[in-house]
Amino acid sequence: MATPTLTVTDNRTGKQYTLKIEDGAIHATDLAQIKVAADQPGLVSYDPALVNTATCKSKVSYIDGDRGILRYRGYPIEELAEKSNYLETAYLIVKGELPTASHFKMWQHNIKMHTLVHENVKHFIEGFRYDAHPMGILIGTVGALSTFYPDAKNILDLESRRMQTRRLIGKMPTIAAFAYRHSRGLPYAYPDNDLSYAGNFLSMLFKMTELKYKPDPVLERALEVLFILHADHEQNCSSTTVRAVGSSHADPYSAVAAACAALGGPLHGAANEAVIHMLHEIGSKDRIPELIKQVKGRERRLMGFGHRVYKNYDPRAKIIKQIAYEVFEVTGKNPLIDIALELERIALEDDYFVSHRLYPNVDFYSGIIYEAMGFPMAMFPVLFAIARTSGWMAQWAEMLLDEEQKIVRPKQVYLGYDTRRYVPLADRPEDGGLIETEVRGPL
Ligand code: CMC
Repeated sequence: MATPTLTVTDNRTGKQYTLKIEDGAIHATDLAQIKVAADQPGLVSYDPALVNTATCKSKVSYIDGDRGILRYRGYPIEELAEKSNYLETAYLIVKGELPTASHFKMWQHNIKMHTLVHENVKHFIEGFRYDAHPMGILIGTVGALSTFYPDAKNILDLESRRMQTRRLIGKMPTIAAFAYRHSRGLPYAYPDNDLSYAGNFLSMLFKMTELKYKPDPVLERALEVLFILHADHEQNCSSTTVRAVGSSHADPYSAVAAACAALGGPLHGAANEAVIHMLHEIGSKDRIPELIKQVKGRERRLMGFGHRVYKNYDPRAKIIKQIAYEVFEVTGKNPLIDIALELERIALEDDYFVSHRLYPNVDFYSGIIYEAMGFPMAMFPVLFAIARTSGWMAQWAEMLLDEEQKIVRPKQVYLGYDTRRYVPLADRPEDGGLIETEVRGPL
């Protein structure tokens, strides 16, 4: 079959160009040949926020946004959520295949070998203010890990990449739990490697004076499923960040710290926190129409709704909604669920949400479960970060080994001044006596 192509006519010059179409994409660099004159710059594609630009070829996860499908390495998210556990899913994401029994045993051992952190990490965390947001602590501490493991800079060495992957997946729950205990003024609880990945995390968070913490099996499984659901999500903001920072050949701790920072924004991984604030603010079902009015009036966004890729129900939200009731059997019902369900019902019947194809995303129901399980709101994005670490490492390694990748360096369309001459301070006219803080501008 002939290679598919695209023919473009430049109406400025009348010239025609034939561009190759590969895997449903044209190469943006092929546009550079389209010029008005040989000494003029070539055409560029303008795509703020990379809405319609593929920046990589990936085999990690697949989303069909119109049909509400998510797969990791080909496996439907529903099957993994039902049958797998987080460490097995992390193996699948990082290595590309489900493990054999012996490989899985070894993988679990290798992760558990790295759950402890250097005692100085503890002291480092103690330096944060008592009320520091745990996401800030996580970002700072993960970045600081690069100083503990200088071998991490050997990014082109397979063994080094494997070691940092194990360390990061192993240590994220420990750092997250220490951040929580710090905010509560509680002594740190060290990892218990007899427990599952989620069970150990619950132990490090909630263990008091008992010798051994026994996680509730329903809550442990629910957390395990939540971790599976958050493990990867193709080229989202934080995964794009880990790739961009990693593309300069920074070490993986620095790249993952940057990814945590991206995840911490309320439009990304902290939306779960924002949803709970919003539901508390609504307070009762009769106040939902008022909120909907504000959203439609563009005064605010409906948090936990909408997605760049999903124009259908987020499959993760469906699963979370189901497990919420299993959790409530143990914890008692979180009354926010009734407000959330009613909010969803009203929104999905409303013309604004229907015409904009806005559906609940993963963050709409996850916070309700986390709150029922006793996590403070500030911990919600941190939980997301623990789970997403396997995805970040897979995306980072895929980027490093992709021969088509280089340091990320996008173009811009420059709209600023042409050349200007410097005027000495004494010769510059005053602008009506405004003081510096009164001069309007973005900063
Ligand atoms: N509430 C009200 N209107 C919305 C919302 C919302 N949550 N989301 C999008 N819209 C509207 C938006 O006003 C715009 O309308 P119009 O075309 O008439 O101007 C249209 O839908 C498209 O919005 P957009 O901002 O161009 O869409 P985007 O793809 O850039 O944004 C999003 C995606 C997730 C940032 C956005 O939907 C949003 O802000 N949602 C609320 C925050 C949230 O729940 N984030 C979690 C995302 S899922 C997990 C994760 O990634 O971490």
